[in-house]
Amino acid sequence: MSIRYDGKVAIVTGSGGGLGRCHAIELARRGARVVVNDLGGSVDGTGAGSEAAQAVVAEIEAVGGEALANGANVAKYDEVEAMVKQAMETWGRVDILVNNAGILRDKSFAKGSLDDFKLVLGVHLMGTVNCTKACWEIMREQAYGRVVVTTSSSGLFGNFGQSNYGAAKMGVIGLMNTLAQEGTKYNIKINALAPVAATRMTEGLMPEEVFNLLTPELVTPAVLFLVSEDAPTRTILGAGAGGFTVTRLVESAGMWLPPDEQTPEGIAANWDAIAATEGETHPQSGAEQTMKVVGLAMEGLGLAPE
Ligand code: NAI
Repeated sequence: MSIRYDGKVAIVTGSGGGLGRCHAIELARRGARVVVNDLGGSVDGTGAGSEAAQAVVAEIEAVGGEALANGANVAKYDEVEAMVKQAMETWGRVDILVNNAGILRDKSFAKGSLDDFKLVLGVHLMGTVNCTKACWEIMREQAYGRVVVTTSSSGLFGNFGQSNYGAAKMGVIGLMNTLAQEGTKYNIKINALAPVAATRMTEGLMPEEVFNLLTPELVTPAVLFLVSEDAPTRTILGAGAGGFTVTRLVESAGMWLPPDEQTPEGIAANWDAIAATEGETHPQSGAEQTMKVVGLAMEGLGLAPE
């Protein structure tokens, strides 16, 4: 059965080029009406222009799809609100939001400036917050919404020189974890994409034969799955070169320390057991972690029910 988006309206931010362009074209090819948002500008976020978004709209129209160009800066809430209004006035709904827009200001933490840090957080994290916030009430009222946040291995696992970007990219995971809970009742599903792709953002970072394998077209199926009717929620899906992975946050089984060992020295003495990988779990909510530590204490204190 083919997955389609007939009757659905999608907003794809930063879709004037790279991965976003690919997501937007494929969504439109499969029936969605698409807002092609892009501020234009360069990888470091300087400059602006509407040509890129308009060119993608023309590509979509050339294959019989419906799209409109929008030049909002996702970091500015008033511009984002106007974008969502444009979608609502044109098509009357917003079903799918793909938060994809992004920039880089790579520098080691020692050399980087706070201004660059704030700028990168502003585009990736607040940009995602702004767009999701502007669509949230609409999706709640429709009792339908599919949202994707774009994370990165740099946030999930770290990458030298990308502390600002990594912090922002892990921030969107925190946003997702809570919105997945708040959206459940309204049939809003929210997931994260961790892409690996050859774009202007990754140009020069890898050997040519690896770069050539990593086409954006091989990432887009992951996004399309995550915004489909039967999408999961709160999933981090990795995609690149035809490989697909799921990343999860794990917590060790841990242990309860008796009162005389509830000290830094006690933790040091029991470190191997506290950090052991055997019996790890994947908590689905903050409350699960609370229950676990309280459960360990109850058991240790002999207060657990038989
Ligand atoms: P790209 O630079 O080709 O695309 C990003 C697009 O976002 C550009 O068209 C740019 O004009 C637009 N944009 C930037 N700031 C904006 C703003 N404030 N408002 C609206 N649009 C804005 O880069 P690429 O590789 O396609 O990246 C897409 C997303 O995937 C980004 O969030 C990036 O961080 C993420 N990503 C990419 C990876 C890769 O391997 N290419 C790896 C991990 C994450």
